[in-house]
Amino acid sequence: AARPLIAPSILSADFARLGAEIDAVAGSGDNRADWVHVDVMDAHFVPNLTLGLPVVESLLKSTDLPLDCHLMIEDPDRWAVGYAEAGAYNVTVHAEAAADPVAIARDLRAAGAKAGLSIKPGTALEDYVEALRHYDTLLVMSVEPGFGGQSFIPSVLDKVRAARRMVDTGHLNVLIEIDGGINADTIEQAAEAGVDCFVAGSAVYGAGDPGRAVAALREQAAA
Ligand code: DX5
Ligand code: ZN
Repeated sequence: AARPLIAPSILSADFARLGAEIDAVAGSGDNRADWVHVDVMDAHFVPNLTLGLPVVESLLKSTDLPLDCHLMIEDPDRWAVGYAEAGAYNVTVHAEAAADPVAIARDLRAAGAKAGLSIKPGTALEDYVEALRHYDTLLVMSVEPGFGGQSFIPSVLDKVRAARRMVDTGHLNVLIEIDGGINADTIEQAAEAGVDCFVAGSAVYGAGDPGRAVAALREQAAA
C-alpha cells in the first residue's frame, strides 16, 4: 500500500493559537503532517459550533500544509465552493446534508479543490455509489460528528472494507479517509480495513509532542 496519510484535526488544538498549533505538525521529515484537518461546524448539522471561512482564509495564509476542510454544515450546496475558492486542498461535504452531491463535486473541482464526500456512522455507502464517481475522497465517520475525543465505533470497519473493494474493483480514483477515535489503539485495524488517510485530533494534540505523535501514528498505520 501507499504511504499512509496523517491529517491532524485542529478541533483538539488551542483555538487561541491555531497558527502555532499547525506549525507544531509542520516540521520536516516524519513529524510533518500530510494534511491539516479543519472541522467546520454550524450548530445545525451537528450540535457544536467551531469556525468558518474567515478563519480558514487566515489559516491558508499562515501555513503551506494542505487544508482538509470537513464541513459539518447544512446547505453545503451553497457554502462549500467558497472554501475551494479560498484555496483549501480538499473540501468534504456530508452526503446527508447535500441536496445535489454531484453538482457540489463539479463546483469544488472547477474551483481547483479536491472534492470529498462524508458519511456518518449510520449512513449506508450503497446510496452514494454513483455520486462517489465524481469525488476524490470518501470520509468515513467513525464517531457521530460534532466532538473530538469520542470512542471509535468498530462496526464502521465493515463499511471501510466495502468502500475499499468498491474503489479497487471499480477502479475509482477515490482516497478513503477515516475520522473519529483514531489513536494508537485503533489505527491498525483501520489501516487493515483499507484506509488511506487518517484524521486524528486528540491523539495528536493531546500528546506532549504533536509532531512525534504524527510520526508514530503513520508508522503504526504502515505496519
Ligand atoms: C468530529 C470531527 C473530528 C474530530 C476527531 O466531528 O469531525 O475531526 O476532530 O477527533 P478525535 O480524533 O479526537 O476523535
Ligand atoms: Zn472531522
